[in-house]
Amino acid sequence: MAFRNYILVCGGTGCESSRSEEIYQNLIKECEAQGVKDEVQVIKTGCFGFCEQGPIVKILPEDAFYVKVKPEDAKELVAEHIIKGREVTRLLYDKNQSKRNTKVEDIQFYQKQFRIVLRNCGKIDPENIDEYIARDGYEALEKALFEMTPEQIVDELKTAGLRGRGGAGFPTWMKWNFTKSSPGEIKYVVCNADEGDPGAYMDRSTLEGDPHSVLEAMTICGKAIGAHQGFIYIRAEYPLAIHRLEVAMKQSREYGLLGKDILGSGFDFDIEIRLGAGAFVCGEETALLQSIEGHRGMPQPRPPFPAVKGLWGKPTCINNVETFANVAVIINKGGNWFNKIGTDDSHGTKVFALTGKIANSGLVEVPMGTTLREIVFDIGGGIANGKKFKAVQTGGPSGGVITEENLDTPIDFGGLIKIGSMMGSGGMIVMDEDDCIVDVAKFYLNFSVDESCGKCAPCRIGGRSLLHILDKITCGNGTLEDIDTIHKIAHAMQKGALCALGQTTPNPVLSGLRYFPEEYRAHIVDKKCPAGKCKKLITYVIDPAKCIGCTACARKCPVGAISGERKQPHKINTAACIKCGACYATCKFGAISIH
Ligand SMILES: Cc1cc2nc3c(=O)[nH]c(=O)nc-3n(C[C@H](O)[C@H](O)[C@H](O)COP(=O)(O)O)c2cc1C
Ligand code: SF4
Ligand code: SF4
Ligand code: FES
Repeated sequence: MAFRNYILVCGGTGCESSRSEEIYQNLIKECEAQGVKDEVQVIKTGCFGFCEQGPIVKILPEDAFYVKVKPEDAKELVAEHIIKGREVTRLLYDKNQSKRNTKVEDIQFYQKQFRIVLRNCGKIDPENIDEYIARDGYEALEKALFEMTPEQIVDELKTAGLRGRGGAGFPTWMKWNFTKSSPGEIKYVVCNADEGDPGAYMDRSTLEGDPHSVLEAMTICGKAIGAHQGFIYIRAEYPLAIHRLEVAMKQSREYGLLGKDILGSGFDFDIEIRLGAGAFVCGEETALLQSIEGHRGMPQPRPPFPAVKGLWGKPTCINNVETFANVAVIINKGGNWFNKIGTDDSHGTKVFALTGKIANSGLVEVPMGTTLREIVFDIGGGIANGKKFKAVQTGGPSGGVITEENLDTPIDFGGLIKIGSMMGSGGMIVMDEDDCIVDVAKFYLNFSVDESCGKCAPCRIGGRSLLHILDKITCGNGTLEDIDTIHKIAHAMQKGALCALGQTTPNPVLSGLRYFPEEYRAHIVDKKCPAGKCKKLITYVIDPAKCIGCTACARKCPVGAISGERKQPHKINTAACIKCGACYATCKFGAISIH
C-alpha cells in the first residue's frame, strides 16, 4: 500500500544514543493522535551518514531533511509538515531555504559521495526483508544460484577488481578461488565484523542499516566456494548490529533465502553469529578463527592460509563486512560496471568514518581516487571551529598521517602506502593545529601495546620499548639518539613480528617522524611541545597586561594554584599547577597562554 508520506527516522547507533528511538515512537503516536496514521508510514532506518547532524528525520516525498531533532519535535512535525504541508524551517538542515527544502543530493556533505556499500542505509527498514527485496535484494543470489556457475561468480569478481576492504586490499576473487580450489568436502565462509580500529564504525553501520546485503553475499560466496556454513564474527559491543542481523537471519530463513534448499535450488547454506569479546587482535584472521573455535584469540603463522586450512582445519574464506556488501551489486550490475568506478589500482568505493576535528563528522562513501582534500574540505566541511588543518590519520593504529602536502593524492590502496600511510579499514581521524603529533603517536602506540596478544617478542617487547621512548620524549627527557633507537626497534618489529599488529605498530611513530621531524626536535632539543599538549613540557602563564582580575580562573583551579586580588592581575604558582588547562579554557580575556 502506498502512503502519502514516509517519515524516515535514523535508527543508527549514533542517533539512537541521542534518543532517536523516542522520536520514532513519538512520531507514531502523533500520527495516530492527529488522525493520519493510515496515510503516513514511519520507518526506522540505518545511519544516514551525516551523524554530526543527528538525530536525522527525513520526510518523503518532499525530501525534507530535518536535523538535530528532539523527541518533543514530533508533534510539530506531524501537525505542520504532514497535516498542513508546511516544512518546519527551524529543523531543516538548510534553514535559509524558506520556501523549499534543499534536496538531500544538494547538501554538500552528500555531493561527492557515491553509495554502493551504503546503498540502502538510511533508506530502508533493516528489520523488514521486504524493503530489502524491493530494492533488488536477493536478485543477485537468485542469479548466482540459477544462472551462474561457481567459476562465473569468481570471474565476475575478477572482472570487478574488488579488493578486500578489511585493510590489506587482497583481491577478493583470488581468495574465493583459492578456497574453492582447496580440496575438502567441508568449507566455511566467515565474515569479519570485529572492527576494532579506534574511530571506525563503517562495518557496524552497514550491518545496522543493511544486514541482508552481507547475508546475501555470504550465501553467494558459499555457492562459489562450495561451503554450506557461514559465521559472522562480531564484537559483543555492537548489540544493535547483532540484533538486526538476528532479525534478518530469521526473516531470510522464513523466506527460504537461508537454510536448506535455498529458493528450491538444492543448495543449502546457513549462518551463525559468533560474538567476540572486543580484542583488536581478534580481527586478525587467524586469531579470529582461533576465537571462533573457542581458543584464546592469538594469531597463527601463515602459511597455511585460511583458504587452505582455516576453521577446524577446513578451507575457509574470510572477508570483511564492507567487502561482502559490494558483492550483490557486482553480480547484479556486472564486474565491468564496477571496475569503471575508482582508479586502476583500486576499483569501486571506500567507506570512511570521518571523525576528529572535522566540521561534518560522519560516514562517507566515495569512489576510490577521491582526494583527501575533497573528503576533508568538500564533504567534511573543513576543520571544526575555524582551526588550521594539521593532518589526518588513516589506517588507525597501523597507519600514519597524511599532511597538507599530500591532500591532493588520490586515495587508493597503493597511493596511501606510497605516502607512508595505509587504507586500513577506513577510520579517518582529522587533527588540527592543537594536536601534538608525538602525543597522537603515543595514543596509538598505547592502544597497540594494550592490544598485543603477547605471543611474540618483537611485538610484546618492541611496542613497550617504543612507548617508553615516546614517554621520555613527551616528558622532556628525550635525546636525539632516541630517534635512531626508534628506527632500529621499528625495523626489528617490521621484520620479526608474527602478525600485522606487531609489524605495523611503529607506523604512527614513523610517519610522524617523516612528516613532522621538527615537532620531534622541539620536544627533544628545545623541551617544548609546540601544540601545547604534552603536560610536562608546558607552563600556563597569565599576562598581567591582559588580566582584569575577574577571578574566574582562580575559582576554577582545582588545586588553588592561582592567586591575586579582585580587579588585580592574577598569578599562577607553576610549582603547584597540575596543568589541567581549566584556567586557560575559562579566561574570556585571552590573558592565559601556554608556554
Ligand atoms: C590486528 C589486526 C586487526 C584486524 N582487524 C580487522 C577487522 O576488524 N576487520 C576486518 O575485516 N579485518 C581485520 N583485519 C584484517 C584481517 O586479518 C583480514 O585480512 C580481513 O578480514 C580479510 O578480509 P578482506 O579480504 O575482505 O579485507 C585485521 C588485521 C590485523 C592484523
Ligand atoms: S605481532 Fe603482536 S599481536 Fe601479533 S602475534 Fe605477535 S605478539 Fe601477538
Ligand atoms: S592549569 Fe589547572 S592547575 Fe594549573 S593554574 Fe590553571 S586551573 Fe590551576
Ligand atoms: S547514526 Fe544517524 S546519521 Fe549516523
